[in-house]
Amino acid sequence: MNHEQLPTERPAVVTCGLPYANGNLHVGHLRTYVDGDLFSRALKRAGQETAFVCGSDMHGTPVAVNAAKEGVEPKDFALRHHEQYIERFEQFNIGFDNYGHTHDETNTELTQSFVKSWIDNDHVHEKEIAVAWDAEEDQPLPDRYVEGTCPYCGEHARGDECDDGCQRHLEPGEIEDPVSTITGNSAEYRKQPHKFLKLADFQTYLQGFLNRLEGTDNAKNQPREWIEGELEDLCITRDMDWGIDYPGESEEELVLYVWVDAPIEYVSSTKQYSERVGTDTYDWEAVWKVNGETQHGTEWKDEWTDETGEIIHIIGRDIIQHHCVFWPAMLRGAGYNEPRAVLATGFVGIDGKALSTSRNRAIWAKEYLDAGFHPDLFRYYIATGSDLENDIDFSWDRFAERVNGELVGNLGNFCYRALLFAQRNYGGTPDVETSKEIQDEIETALEAFRSAIRDYDIRAIGNIAVELAAVGNEYIQRNEPWNLVDDEPDTAAQVIRDCVQLSKACAVLMQPVMPEKAESLWNSLGEDGSIVEATLGDALEAPPAEFDEPTELFTKVESDHVESLNEELRARVEAAEADERATDGDEQSREESESATVDIEPLEDERISFDEFQGIDMRVGEILEAEPIEGADKLLRLDVDLGVETRQVVAGLRELHDVETLAGTRVIVLANMEKAELFGHESNGMVLAAGEEADLLTTYENAPLGTRVR
Ligand code: 2FM
Ligand code: ZN
Repeated sequence: MNHEQLPTERPAVVTCGLPYANGNLHVGHLRTYVDGDLFSRALKRAGQETAFVCGSDMHGTPVAVNAAKEGVEPKDFALRHHEQYIERFEQFNIGFDNYGHTHDETNTELTQSFVKSWIDNDHVHEKEIAVAWDAEEDQPLPDRYVEGTCPYCGEHARGDECDDGCQRHLEPGEIEDPVSTITGNSAEYRKQPHKFLKLADFQTYLQGFLNRLEGTDNAKNQPREWIEGELEDLCITRDMDWGIDYPGESEEELVLYVWVDAPIEYVSSTKQYSERVGTDTYDWEAVWKVNGETQHGTEWKDEWTDETGEIIHIIGRDIIQHHCVFWPAMLRGAGYNEPRAVLATGFVGIDGKALSTSRNRAIWAKEYLDAGFHPDLFRYYIATGSDLENDIDFSWDRFAERVNGELVGNLGNFCYRALLFAQRNYGGTPDVETSKEIQDEIETALEAFRSAIRDYDIRAIGNIAVELAAVGNEYIQRNEPWNLVDDEPDTAAQVIRDCVQLSKACAVLMQPVMPEKAESLWNSLGEDGSIVEATLGDALEAPPAEFDEPTELFTKVESDHVESLNEELRARVEAAEADERATDGDEQSREESESATVDIEPLEDERISFDEFQGIDMRVGEILEAEPIEGADKLLRLDVDLGVETRQVVAGLRELHDVETLAGTRVIVLANMEKAELFGHESNGMVLAAGEEADLLTTYENAPLGTRVR
């Protein structure tokens, strides 16, 4: 059974990925929250009962590691950042109905009840596993305490995530060449018992779930590959102090893995909202449970049912696996409802390059506000800069260009001209009906708004008011009411009446993307109350007969302001790069002096048979084209000629080779390497290279392209 189209009669919850309470927010973080806020406001506007909830992600190594660097307790550290996020979200008009945090009582209790439910339903078992260990510190190295190489794509990875490469989740013990982030020593492995959620119990369910799932294509499709073959267990415990205690009987002091209690905060935060406003106003159980009850056993059919609410998650594309595989299994295992849609956004780059906090190539949320820009301008830029799942580049130049052209020149200019003319000539809205032509235009815009909601097309929702203003500008230019006032007063009144109506429709339609600017326009129209209360239908209702002279909605971004912001960013990035070079230099000289004593990796003891070797299909190839992959510092997309065909291969060569000179290089390609998808690009083969510097393997003479290596 397919989902009914939005809006439905049932309550909805819109959530955004929880920010780790461990640092400052930058424009890259803000993208998801702006999109989430916009979509929940649009749903409310379209009449769907909606709660928009989130919270700070307080636990796990992302918080513990950073707190330790500052020498403070993780709890104090995380709460400080939590408070700062609340302030920052408000400043960007991101209006959560509830913003909690994962360490509060509601989430602690609910998380433990989820885990107990998995235990009671036999979805949890214990296993002894090898965990990374720092011998010098004599302590385990969970998650971000260890770094190494991703076993799936060969990129540098953190203990539990391949953040530089394929973005996959890594289980404890999976990372290769593990190094402790505490001492920099190679990590050892030690045996320890841990608890696991048996994901294989949900394999069939997850296949059905992915068929029903709505949202962006990346969220619907990427997980299919991850659930092929038997699903591995998910380790749900960690040997550390900071976290929510594992609720079972275990004697060891294990806490739950941060990715257990983090998504459960979606439910906890909704529950808190419900408790605050009363279940008559919003019932969290009607959304998260089936018919208000948790469901277990065979009578719960593997299909969508209309006895639940609509759960819509908006996340960054790096956490698709957590939301489209682990989370639905966690919900199902505890008898809860499933997500209806997952919308996974692309990343935000800065000036054509990947955002990098370590290189200080970032624009911080506070920095944007300190530059004196209105938050709604950023919201508009980021929500409409690209389709949801694509990356967006942020540059001050482009920001100024879009604000000056689309907001100042189009939307702001139209509404100001229309209202000023109306006020000066008629004291407000001229006393005639809106023309059929303009009513139709507004109805078309309203339908576009409704249809964009059904398609989860956040960019389209953000664009509608600006597009309608363009219709208005064309209409006012074409009719030139200023030339009609004396000779054709009725026609002039009609044109201005239409323009005032269009301005009102713009206010209603722009509210999800620019809530504060929409409110100002609403006030300029002399409307009573807040625009938050307005419905879509109000776009066609007559505006007040009288209003005051309007003020301009937007101000031009001046070019010298842009220049100084660019200069500031450039100087900052340069300083960070110089710092990095100095550190690298120190490290290099240390490595050079140590290199005589560094052992080459020992030869493999285990032999392979000649037949096994025959199964390895290595070919001579030539790189035809090499280009950087947006958003991935280390990766290149290569077209490689293998004689019989040209293959696209993604390789981690960007930082190690001069990209310009790679075309024409002869390489050896492992042609029957399984396909992978990296940063949205298929990699069909592997270019072979030696060592840390990726010294490319090539041929001694000129064996023709496609020749097999034996
Ligand atoms: O990746 C992150 O930043 C996590 N803090 C997101 C958690 S989202 C969730 F599921 F709670
Ligand atoms: Zn990887």
